[in-house]
Amino acid sequence: RNETIHAADGVAVLESRGSVAENFGIPLAVLLELTHRCPLQCPYCSNPVELERGGAELTTDEWKRVLGELAAIGVLQVHFSGGEPTARKDLVELVRHASDVGLYTNLITSAVLLTRERLAALADAGLCHVQISFQGYEPVVADRVAGFANGHAKKIEAARWTRELDLPLTVNAVMHRQNLHQLPDIIDMAVALDADRLEVANVQYYGWALKNRAALMPTLQQIDDCTAIVEAAQSRLKGQLAIDYVVPDYYALRPKTCMGGWGRQFFNISPSGKVLPCHAAETITGLAFDSVRGGASIAEIWRNSEALNRYRGTSWMQQPCASCAFKEIDFGGCRCQAFALAGDAAATDPACALSPLHKRIFKTAEAEAEAGGDKFVYRNFAGGTAEGRSTTSPR
Ligand code: SF4
Ligand code: FES
Repeated sequence: RNETIHAADGVAVLESRGSVAENFGIPLAVLLELTHRCPLQCPYCSNPVELERGGAELTTDEWKRVLGELAAIGVLQVHFSGGEPTARKDLVELVRHASDVGLYTNLITSAVLLTRERLAALADAGLCHVQISFQGYEPVVADRVAGFANGHAKKIEAARWTRELDLPLTVNAVMHRQNLHQLPDIIDMAVALDADRLEVANVQYYGWALKNRAALMPTLQQIDDCTAIVEAAQSRLKGQLAIDYVVPDYYALRPKTCMGGWGRQFFNISPSGKVLPCHAAETITGLAFDSVRGGASIAEIWRNSEALNRYRGTSWMQQPCASCAFKEIDFGGCRCQAFALAGDAAATDPACALSPLHKRIFKTAEAEAEAGGDKFVYRNFAGGTAEGRSTTSPR
């Protein structure tokens, strides 16, 4: 089976292509947000609250040009993402083009729009890997979280087709207070679906998730239990199912090295073509991101973008980061979280215990989890107007 390309293999492929990627540190993998359109309404969506409309999306030819350019500068792998990438009618054509120019392709999907025929066409076009998101392990919880009736059953079906077509499968499970009790069953579900990998990803609080933080924040006890369950499963399922684990950083002492550092080893391209250092970067006001429509090449944008250069490296840091021994390790945590919680993207991420705001966010997390509010503001183009369903029936 195909596997995600790892750095060491990547260098060999780059050398065989005569790539110049290393000259300017182009990332090996790039996330392509083909569209913000999506039939699901997950209240933790990582898309910005101000979603880009379908009319602003890059055309098929523009995406093809982007794919060709990415391959030419040494990118090895693209993740087709969204929104829901299968909402694009030209997805098969884009996957075929990516494959033709030599890119490894991963589809990150909710799967509810897939048919077996379309998935087979994608496989035929050269799709290498499928990642399907799950909102729980059974419909009562999962369909309510997604705000989409009968979605869970469709996902199970699509996961089976994926394996029947001999495509490798990752199950992505975004966890929070309202579904963490289902984690053991989700792990069993991933095994039963013959997945290669399971991502147990506790919600990170930006955009829609920040709006819904009080309804999503787990208790400290839930996180302790979750960690124990994941560790036991990792050891029990070694060699059978790889399990990645993301903890919620409000309860951490040190922040995550978000995106491996701003503008260091990752970028994504938004539906309208903006080159972003992370999915949430546009929540930071005062930054202007360059677009692939602006005339500059992607390599030029990567090197010269004022917004990407703003928080690259460590010279922009304030105290306590500026004199901290970890500054080259975590790069001060997450710029988007610093902006959201401290009002300053150059501040230390409040997830860090050395931030003056750390105690406050820890207490906020505890208090919100304890209060137990369960109403969601659903993610949609109307700005979350499907607010307030707290029953178990999906829409
Ligand atoms: Fe990281 Fe800054 Fe905290 Fe040091 S002070 S651990 S560099 S976030
Ligand atoms: Fe933007 Fe962390 S999500 S830097």
